[in-house]
Amino acid sequence: MGLMDAWKVVFYTVLAVFKFVVTLVAGDSIFFKEIKGDIVLVTGGGSGIGRLMCLKLAQRGAIIVTWDVNAKGNQETVSMIQKEGGKATAYTVDLTNKEQVYEAADKVRQEVGTVSILINNAGIVSGSSILDTSDSKIIQTFDVNVLAHFWTIKAFLPAMLETRRGHIVTIASIAGQCGANKLVDYCSSKFAAVGLNDSLTVELFRQGHSDYIKTTVVCPYVISTGMFAGVQSSLLPILEPKDVAERVVTGILSDQDMIIIPGWTALTLALKSMLPVKAMLWMSQAFGFNTAMDQFTGRLADTNSKTK
Ligand SMILES: NC(=O)c1ccc[n+]([C@@H]2O[C@H](COP(=O)([O-])OP(=O)(O)OC[C@H]3O[C@@H](n4cnc5c(N)ncnc54)[C@H](O)[C@@H]3O)[C@@H](O)[C@H]2O)c1
Repeated sequence: MGLMDAWKVVFYTVLAVFKFVVTLVAGDSIFFKEIKGDIVLVTGGGSGIGRLMCLKLAQRGAIIVTWDVNAKGNQETVSMIQKEGGKATAYTVDLTNKEQVYEAADKVRQEVGTVSILINNAGIVSGSSILDTSDSKIIQTFDVNVLAHFWTIKAFLPAMLETRRGHIVTIASIAGQCGANKLVDYCSSKFAAVGLNDSLTVELFRQGHSDYIKTTVVCPYVISTGMFAGVQSSLLPILEPKDVAERVVTGILSDQDMIIIPGWTALTLALKSMLPVKAMLWMSQAFGFNTAMDQFTGRLADTNSKTK
């Protein structure tokens, strides 16, 4: 490591601590960037936190493009934004279909313009043990939760590089940081989404674009949107969608690299890298995490019928 590199390591560490302290004292808004007139594309904007993020970003003057396989929900999001005086367009896109993704991206470019913030948010969950999960469900989970991110990034990153302005947001999960019972396909797709974000961040840095193309990865605990309906959580309170959406939008506006919700769960992730696997398994058992999915119902049947 050269002296200059060492100096930058120190500089960016001190800067992060400084920003943390200033945020504590003065609030996040001090570091907010202007997004008025920016085109923001949200996948899965037809419900849950995707819809709430669309609404919040539109309230700050962003032009929203929402993609969802659920045409009705997607249109509802647009109507809600328009009612508040915002601008939004809905496209019905099945993210499991790569050709549809590229075609929709061309349409967005022609009909709306250059996307500068891409939020890969759509996600699905099977909620069954590996042997009870059909091959097609596993493939669908990977298609939506991570492969679609590749197609949207390939579609929208080139224009971001050309205009030297962009932000790619990956909505992953705490399940992208540690494994869980009955979530083998979900966790592995979310680990992949986290890996995609981390590697893309390195690549953009190495290629000299990291000053103007930002990346953010979001890892929330369970949220009461219906996606994880039936999950039992005795130790940690289930998160409110509006709080998560607010936290994510705050993080995007202040160019945060990683958002873990609630923040203190980062400590358990640190523990995971220090404790032996068996100790971690028994700790999860004691806190009820291993049985959390036993009464899971989710909204899989709903999503399946919409994607057919
Ligand atoms: N709900 C939670 O507990 C939780 C926790 C951590 C992370 N997350 C993640 O947050 C994101 C949003 O989740 P949510 O809770 O708002 O869920 P949600 O089910 O309310 O929203 C997901 C949206 O994705 C859309 N979608 C699903 N398959 C699609 C496809 N093939 N093509 C296009 N759109 C498709 C759905 O129609 C839906 O509108 C997901 O990536 C999820 O994995 C959720």
